[in-house]
Amino acid sequence: MTKRVRKAVLPVAGLGTRVLPVARATPKNLLNVFDRPILSYVVEEARAAGIEHFIFITSRGQGAIEDYFDGNPEIEGALEAKGKTDVLAEVRRDILPPGSMSFIRQMAPLGLGHAVWCARELIGDEPFAVILPDMLMAAKTPAMAQTVAAYEKVGGNIVVVESVPDSETHKYGIVALDGQDGRISKMTGMVEKPAQGTAPSNLIISGRYILQPEIFPLLERQGKGAGGEIQLTDSMIELMKSQDFHALEYEGTTYDCGDKIGLLKANIAFALDRPEFADAARAAIKDLL
Ligand code: G1P
Repeated sequence: MTKRVRKAVLPVAGLGTRVLPVARATPKNLLNVFDRPILSYVVEEARAAGIEHFIFITSRGQGAIEDYFDGNPEIEGALEAKGKTDVLAEVRRDILPPGSMSFIRQMAPLGLGHAVWCARELIGDEPFAVILPDMLMAAKTPAMAQTVAAYEKVGGNIVVVESVPDSETHKYGIVALDGQDGRISKMTGMVEKPAQGTAPSNLIISGRYILQPEIFPLLERQGKGAGGEIQLTDSMIELMKSQDFHALEYEGTTYDCGDKIGLLKANIAFALDRPEFADAARAAIKDLL
């Protein structure tokens, strides 16, 4: 029997250097994709997979994230008074239950591995999810739910992957598989940001993970890796010596919202996906082209 995955770590402390200047004063994960912030979609995705506790790893100036998921009596009261029940329902959809969010300051931008390590006391001794919110995943069955289903099948550690053109592999963590049979495959290796032409496959680490708590002591001693940062991938390579890792090739489309064009594309795609806006969005795009 696998232990249920109840908690998710969301590293949101990044400076958003690829989306400057807009990310100067607005946390990059609060940037909008159509009419909701990026974080709203990923939190909803995680809740649909049974995640009950959200641990945000933040940096200075990100208090707006707490405010977004909290109630707002002024806005709610105004909508109620005006009888705007549909907008009110949309607003309330993102309010998280009391006690289900925690915020930890990373204090210094030392890398993803360090960010995850900051959550060790709140995770304790149970498996947990890691969600990289930049990577917005549109899928019929939410990506995290696909990940939890894979975990319930094979246990251990799960890393969601997807293929990219060979020319892109140097920007990501890359996995090596022990043959591919369906969507869930045993992993044999990983490398963070391999030099061009050296990647063991074209399957990137996409930004959804389920990890066992034994990763924490490894993160604690993890030295700097690619880009001079403490890399989660490097500690996963260590953990793979004693525990199973499976890659899940999920079904869906990923938008890299940490990138200006990726964010633009997500905005267009999510508008077109909304029945009540699709026609107007299509007309507006056509008009521009
Ligand atoms: C991180 C991970 C990398 C993963 C990527 C996905 O890199 O270290 O393995 O492929 O996210 O976006 P970063 O984008 O923080 O450099």
